[in-house]
Amino acid sequence: MAAEACIALVERDEGGVDRAFRADVLEGLLQQQKAVPARWFYDARGSELFEKITRLPEYYPTQAETEILQARSREFAELIGTGRAVVEFGSGSSVKTPLLLRAIDPAAYVPLDISGDFLRAAAADLAREFPDMPVVPVEADFMKPVILPAVVADLLKLGFFPGSTIGNMVARTSVDLLRSMRATLGGDAMLLIGMDLIKDVSVLEAAYDDAAGVTAAFNRNLAHRINRELDGTIPVDALRHVALWNDEYARIEMHLEAVRDIVFQVSGRSFAMRKGETIHTENSHKFDRRSQMTLLLAGGWTPIGRWTDSEKRFSLLLAEATRPRNAP
Ligand code: AVI
Repeated sequence: MAAEACIALVERDEGGVDRAFRADVLEGLLQQQKAVPARWFYDARGSELFEKITRLPEYYPTQAETEILQARSREFAELIGTGRAVVEFGSGSSVKTPLLLRAIDPAAYVPLDISGDFLRAAAADLAREFPDMPVVPVEADFMKPVILPAVVADLLKLGFFPGSTIGNMVARTSVDLLRSMRATLGGDAMLLIGMDLIKDVSVLEAAYDDAAGVTAAFNRNLAHRINRELDGTIPVDALRHVALWNDEYARIEMHLEAVRDIVFQVSGRSFAMRKGETIHTENSHKFDRRSQMTLLLAGGWTPIGRWTDSEKRFSLLLAEATRPRNAP
């Protein structure tokens, strides 16, 4: 079955620029610690670079999560059952998706992603691979509740959120997202979610600052995107990629650090950075069993299964929507 027409829920201005992108960048550059939300990495070039990252030898999360999806499929398939509609949040190129779809034989697949072109291409590939299953891509910011297409309205849902993208949010945002997923998916839904684990700092820092410089290019592409889409004049060559472990928050932070004093314009406004000043571009939180439990429960999900890869680098959790009940 061909992928059905993509439903677009992103608001753009007359020039085709996502209004939320402009607002986030202008607001973020005015802060004391300059910061731009990591979700803006993923334009077409950023999505391409991220796919490259997932194939790097240093970037273990993809290999580890793929191993779990392959080796433990029987166990999670038994808990999930067949005939659900799989709703994938931030599907990207959906490379891990066939492993899940083959294991659980769902009734439909709804990939949600903010990067429309990438989403449409990936949905078309999946529709060819699973010709009997409706594939209904939705171009949307999954951080907000989404009204799902009518074809899946009456089906039980399984949310799929692989890759530890939940780790890219601060605690409050990740709890909001988990709650909004529950609202999108319904009270009988399940959620299969990947979460990266805390480990040796040298392994973590190498995963976010690879020898081939792909992660550096991914980080700096954000500045190129601002220049291209928001009439920016950021001197990208003056920004250095930095990836550091923040132990207090259990996260890798990525920054773009000015190697000299610079001034630039974005959307007609002027900004300056002193040498050494940074734009904070990403957090990637890492978890242990307890912090995973706390996060899922706070977000309205009760964990019912947990699997790790053979080297205990990454984990996949299955949770069901928590039923409202009295508790002490
Ligand atoms: C998408 N996300 C889970 C990736 C991560 O590991 O935090 C993004 C990434 N940033 C640098 N490398 C990969």
